[in-house]
Amino acid sequence: MRKPLIVGNWKMNTLRADAEQLTGAAVMAATHHEGGVDVGIAPPALWLSACVGGAGHLLSVFGQNAHQAESGAFTGEVSAPMLADAGADGVILGHSERRHVFGETDAVIADKVVAALEAGLRVILCVGETLEQRDAQQTTEIVLGQAAAALGHVSSLEHLVIAYEPVWAIGTGRTATPEQAQEVHASLRHWIDQRYGAAAAATTRIQYGGSVKPTNASELLAMPDIDGALVGGASLDATSFSGIIEAAAR
Ligand code: PGA
Repeated sequence: MRKPLIVGNWKMNTLRADAEQLTGAAVMAATHHEGGVDVGIAPPALWLSACVGGAGHLLSVFGQNAHQAESGAFTGEVSAPMLADAGADGVILGHSERRHVFGETDAVIADKVVAALEAGLRVILCVGETLEQRDAQQTTEIVLGQAAAALGHVSSLEHLVIAYEPVWAIGTGRTATPEQAQEVHASLRHWIDQRYGAAAAATTRIQYGGSVKPTNASELLAMPDIDGALVGGASLDATSFSGIIEAAAR
């Protein structure tokens, strides 16, 4: 019922030629598995137009961040209407690197979610606990708290995807076990059910992110509440990214 969504988050990687080559490879993989899986890429903002130009209709293109204001004196920032105008389909918000490296708070992320939806973008909202929080048995409280805060002004999840990304699994080579991830995804779905109702709970996609690779994608995606992956490192290698798309299509 929920088609898996695989999105490659390139972070601050790729020069233009790499971006074009990875876009081409992602289009090929998306075409090959058309119908079975939705595929997206999140290139650096500077390459968005080039990637949109190469993406065709099967590949979605996402920004990696957007400012909460529509425009203004915010040197170095990119707004949601700019992403939409460049042809982006959506934007990743609340990524743990934005939260922890750039100090984005739940309140800022909530404003960004509203701005992105108003600009007509889909939103991939990232949530996830640190290792300390997991060890202190606070995982559910943190993850549901982040979701509740970020979606505080949002009345429908129609244009939302949630990505559960345990901070300790991002770029570390350490993946949550399928059971660990499933447990959190199930609590998120239960939370959606209570807050937005059964239909939203049944249709909203919850991606897993954190060291997803072709070798672990199948077992993660086999879990009932894992509906796709937000892929960092492995999305920078065309063969690995295609392997994950293939695993999702199966
Ligand atoms: P990773 O990154 O796959 O390199 O762990 C995931 C992410 O940050 O979205």
